[in-house]
Amino acid sequence: MSHEFLDLPQLLSAAGTVRLPGSKSISNRVLLLAALSAGVTEVRDLLASDDTERMLEALQALGVGVESLGDEAWRITGCGGVFPVKQAELFLGNAGTAFRPLTAALALAGGDYILKGVPRMHERPIGDLVDGLRQLGADVTYLGNDGYPPLHLKPASIRPGGSVQVRGDVSSQFLTGLLMALPLTGETVTVDVVGELISKPYIEITLATMARFGVTVVRDGWQRFTVKAGSHYVSPGVVYVEGDASSASYFLALGAIGGGPVRVEGVGRDSIQGDVKFADALAQMGAVIEMGPNWMSAQAPAGGLQAVDLDCNHIPDAAMTLATAALFAKGTTVLRNIASWRVKETDRIAAMANELRKLGAEVEEGEDFIRVTPVDRLASPPEGIDTYDDHRMAMCFSLAAFGTPLRINDPKCVAKTFPDYFQRFAGVTRAAPVIAIDGPSASGKGTVAGRVAAALGFAYLDSGALYRLTALAAHRAEVDWADEAGVASIAAELDVEFIGEDIRLNGVAVGDAIRTEAISAGASKVAALPAVREALLFRQRIFNRAPGLVGDGRDMGSVVFPQAVLKVFLTASAEARADRRYKQLIGKGFSANLPDLLADLRERDARDAQRSVAPLRQEADAKLLDTTSLSIEEAVQQVLDWAAEAAVQ
Ligand code: DC
Repeated sequence: MSHEFLDLPQLLSAAGTVRLPGSKSISNRVLLLAALSAGVTEVRDLLASDDTERMLEALQALGVGVESLGDEAWRITGCGGVFPVKQAELFLGNAGTAFRPLTAALALAGGDYILKGVPRMHERPIGDLVDGLRQLGADVTYLGNDGYPPLHLKPASIRPGGSVQVRGDVSSQFLTGLLMALPLTGETVTVDVVGELISKPYIEITLATMARFGVTVVRDGWQRFTVKAGSHYVSPGVVYVEGDASSASYFLALGAIGGGPVRVEGVGRDSIQGDVKFADALAQMGAVIEMGPNWMSAQAPAGGLQAVDLDCNHIPDAAMTLATAALFAKGTTVLRNIASWRVKETDRIAAMANELRKLGAEVEEGEDFIRVTPVDRLASPPEGIDTYDDHRMAMCFSLAAFGTPLRINDPKCVAKTFPDYFQRFAGVTRAAPVIAIDGPSASGKGTVAGRVAAALGFAYLDSGALYRLTALAAHRAEVDWADEAGVASIAAELDVEFIGEDIRLNGVAVGDAIRTEAISAGASKVAALPAVREALLFRQRIFNRAPGLVGDGRDMGSVVFPQAVLKVFLTASAEARADRRYKQLIGKGFSANLPDLLADLRERDARDAQRSVAPLRQEADAKLLDTTSLSIEEAVQQVLDWAAEAAVQ
């Protein structure tokens, strides 16, 4: 049973800039209109995808200037409505957003073109669009089955006084393709939609994109659209392809919770997507929102966020982000009119309620609302936050990391809309810092780590104690230290509390019971079992809280906290360590024998270094601190100096 998870440390703050990936439907509209324009258009933030690649290749084949500027920016040298290449065969793969609008544009452009695609493309209907184009005088022949690609387009003889009827109830892409091509006729053309027009928001995007390129469509409700004679596309110079407005919501919320400002680039005041209204909702919670034409930013208000009671019908997707932002707002947040959540990727009201409750929040859910009351200190659910194969659940719950370290199960579900979400997330957030101190037994790292933590006001994790406690608990339960599954389930269930210097097992202080030579040997044995290490992983990571952590052990820097801001490999000669242990034992009134201690130490060193999982070794990025001839104070000072250099605090 393997499941994927992502462990997030508690976040301290968020600030920075995120460029959102471009929207697919906007990308291909902009490319075609840039190609049809007079002048040069620089298209920025284009989505990198199959559909856009097919469009770029086709435009290039038609003689349009297509030049990559790197970084998802392209320079398109438009042809002013007249493609230089008059005869071409274009292969458009399975790119519907390229095939439909190119069919319309090329049918009216006055050349001889063949348009084809993959077999599946030849099964996707295009008859409604072809019928519309024929009404204008286009000469279109089906090369395969009637009503389907591949198509042969020959120069049209445009009929004056144009009027077209097109069906609106199959795909809005037919109307989109037709509308975008109409300026090529040079005539005034009126399109009447037959039947109920579906996917209206996409027609809004079409009209807005055309307007950006200088062509106004006169609209009469959703039934009649007119493009006037003399309309022609003019390059607006630079065009930014909008990012996904719903994806922007997570980053704006990060800024509103974590200080900010967090700025998203790709959507802004001029956005043609409905979900940008999320910014207004965040502003109602008190966030300081700023906007430019293609950017927005959010900052936390001085007094913190306030709860809202909001009808979210207009922003169903982005509203999910408000539910987790509510964890950081004063008061009870109510999100209403969200019945559609119940029929999305999952029942989002139920999923949201379950997972918010795991963090300790008080949640009430209704058929079409959710009510969230936060708690002062969020809990880290040991089994993690479930994401229900819903990208938005994963992205929403990343915000909860401001309250607690967190495990997100199946984080890769974000790929549906935002494959590198968590990289971008890490890029604008600052996590509670970790100083990792690894080294062999009796090197003095526990003492040094404890003092460094105290000096910085950080928490201290004695990870060795967890292995010692596991060995002790297994011993008490009469589970053999070699029984991997048995010991691992004990490790998973370990009821342990660290209260200052005190370590409690099942509520009882263990004192020196975990420091005996027998338990030391047992700890070293159970620590070699992969399932035991796995069971203790998240238990260690939940120590990664504000304001910071010093962890000591063997694999702090390599496995548990690879993101540590400072990694120290603290060691001393075996003789020096045996001598220190000897003095420590004698000081506590135990009897001890130096040669035996030295032999034991070497044996444990060997086992810790040679085991297959998380063996003890100095990481390439760890600083070596040999304390053989250093006092504790000197060692502590050295670590503090390094911490200052690493800009910890
Ligand atoms: O640091 P210590 O002596 O208290 O550690 C006890 C045992 O646990 C030791 O044999 C190594 C093991 N250990 C480990 O494998 N990984 C850690 N992070 C800490 C300790």
